[in-house]
Amino acid sequence: MIKISPSILSCDYSKMGEEFENMKRCGADWLHIDVMDGHFVPNITLGAPLVKCLRKCSDLVFDCHLMISDPKKYIPDFIKAGADVICFHVEADSPIEETIDLIRESGKVAALAVKPGTDIEAVYPYLDKLGMVLVMTVEPGFGGQSFMEDMMPKIVKLREECERRGLETDIQVDGGISLKTVEIAAKAGANVLVAGSAIFGSDDPKETISLLRSSAAKYF
Ligand code: DX5
Ligand code: ZN
Repeated sequence: MIKISPSILSCDYSKMGEEFENMKRCGADWLHIDVMDGHFVPNITLGAPLVKCLRKCSDLVFDCHLMISDPKKYIPDFIKAGADVICFHVEADSPIEETIDLIRESGKVAALAVKPGTDIEAVYPYLDKLGMVLVMTVEPGFGGQSFMEDMMPKIVKLREECERRGLETDIQVDGGISLKTVEIAAKAGANVLVAGSAIFGSDDPKETISLLRSSAAKYF
């Protein structure tokens, strides 16, 4: 199933509550919340206290993308704050299996992300426990970068591996997704589409979300 997850990295932070409510009106399925610590990536965004406040503004799925060095340390805070999907990087410093188990024990969906330079096979040992894998199509840290089409073979390989194991794992793609690139990602096998600048920079976000969905749906 296709899910559109607007990245709030590109929203107006002075009115986040309204932006969240508006994304629901525009037909978003999830909200992609980019958490950056200024250490794992060279940028700082927000933490669990703000997620907790925003939880009051939306009942959409909170898809938290943790770009932080020690996710295990902060995951209990994000669980308490109301995150639904908790995605951390395979390149981070926390023990991967223990961190996945911590997320799953709380009934939340565990997800692993890979940066462009990381082989997709890095997630294979954990695949059976994951609800989602995020394949980055930009270097994490900033919105508005160009889509890296050369990441598509990773998505194709991962979709094949999931099928081979009989898993219906969500495959998320994040970075440079727009009306020009969404079909490339969906054709490769990605069904959860993150878009920041394409949605928040659009004059008609509702139309953009609907077009992203219909373009991707051709492949599912
Ligand atoms: C980048 C973030 C992305 C980013 C995507 O590190 O993980 O979620 O906001 O932004 P766009 O869609 O503008 O590339
Ligand atoms: Zn992200």
